[in-house]
Amino acid sequence: MATTLPLIESAKRLAAYRAVDEHFPPNARSIGIGSGSTVVYVVERISLLPRERTDHVTFIPTGYQSRELIVKAGLRLGSIDMHTETLDVVFDGADEVDPYLNCIKGGGACLFQEKLVAISGRKLVVVADFRKLSPSLSTHYAPGVPIEVVPLAANYVLSRLSSLGSSAPTIRMGGAAKAGPCITDNGNFIIDAPFPDGFIPMASSSISPPRPLTLKSIVGVVEHGIFWAGDRKPVTAYFGMEDGTVS
Ligand code: 5RP
Repeated sequence: MATTLPLIESAKRLAAYRAVDEHFPPNARSIGIGSGSTVVYVVERISLLPRERTDHVTFIPTGYQSRELIVKAGLRLGSIDMHTETLDVVFDGADEVDPYLNCIKGGGACLFQEKLVAISGRKLVVVADFRKLSPSLSTHYAPGVPIEVVPLAANYVLSRLSSLGSSAPTIRMGGAAKAGPCITDNGNFIIDAPFPDGFIPMASSSISPPRPLTLKSIVGVVEHGIFWAGDRKPVTAYFGMEDGTVS
């Protein structure tokens, strides 16, 4: 019996399937697999491809979750630190995407490895449902910009973020027994930093779209979840819409 997915899940799956169908290269050698619930459908679609298209491909995860997805799908697992070739394509989800395809990522606390893998690919293909579309970055994703920080520096980074204009930045909880801080795959904390009215601190207001260098220059910040389109290789995005189309 065919099962009907709830609207959001169906939108995620539509976007993921279309992205794989249009971007999985005929002679792929290595593919990056991002994190989150939409990427589950990316791997599902890849696992339905004929084995001769995937057998020789190495799949590079962006954290524990995507590593598990790759292994469970019977695909060949690689690791970004062992991989020297440019990845053919990287598929990943996003928390918020603006019209320039700048993204906020890190809702799943995987932003550092996601950025490392994204920058190692020839192109980044974003898959998301319609809720992630945003007219202006940092106006839609309520928790704000996820920032991975060295635990020892967390309080210092919180105070620097407040002075840069973040309203109530907080250390993300949800770690051990849900009582402790959320610990990333790299052993760090995540700070969620909301910036009111879409304001994101930038090094120079003359750069458009803004380049959020200021966040990266705070001592203790490992990486932030703003994926500025100009920083990376070409970006394409697929959004599963409410009406069952893909935009
Ligand atoms: C994890 C991420 C995810 O890609 C992002 O949170 C989107 O997740 P989902 O597909 O579940 O909405 O950045 O760090």
